[in-house]
Amino acid sequence: METIDFIHRFEKGQPEERALLLLHGTGGDENDLIPLARMVAPTASLLSPRGKVLENGMPRFFRRLAEGVFDEDDVRRRANELADFVTDARARYSIASPIALGYSNGANIAAAMLLLRPSELAGAILLRAMPPLAHPQPVKLDGVPVLIVSGARDPIIRPEAAAKLASLLERYGASVEHRVLPAGHELSQADVTLAQSWWNKQASDS
Ligand code: MLT
Repeated sequence: METIDFIHRFEKGQPEERALLLLHGTGGDENDLIPLARMVAPTASLLSPRGKVLENGMPRFFRRLAEGVFDEDDVRRRANELADFVTDARARYSIASPIALGYSNGANIAAAMLLLRPSELAGAILLRAMPPLAHPQPVKLDGVPVLIVSGARDPIIRPEAAAKLASLLERYGASVEHRVLPAGHELSQADVTLAQSWWNKQASDS
């Protein structure tokens, strides 16, 4: 069998349910978001790759030049590489296009996938996200559901940056809900609750 070129975990869930693509934050790995995903979507299939870029030994999904300053050539290259991985994994594990659940750097690569390879994702939950590209080309995101959750006191990813991402995705047709919690960069129980109810709404709408 052909090797899929990302270290990853796959957990099979109910075949009629959308799968989740789990994208961890800087320094995380393929195990990090599994407990969160199980709270949000207890019976969904989970596809969880580990970012291939190392920053001082910490896995990430693309290179950055400084905190919040991204190497945009690498963002493009890595978003395409990840989208190719998702295409292969879909065939290998017999799943439909997944909904991304990304945190921080993982949310940013998910946003880059939406902007560069929109057909690869059926939607996205972006926890602590910002625009991954300064001047992306227009894409068609007609009706793609996106939840963005920011922390009002987040010093790394300001809610204003997330609001810019929200309006960019909306301009391209996505159906975006942006919520700001009284939280910092770390996730809170309120993130889980918002993600759960958004997920349940998608399931009941589909
Ligand atoms: C990023 O690099 O994607 C963001 O600055 C978030 C982070 O990973 O710290």
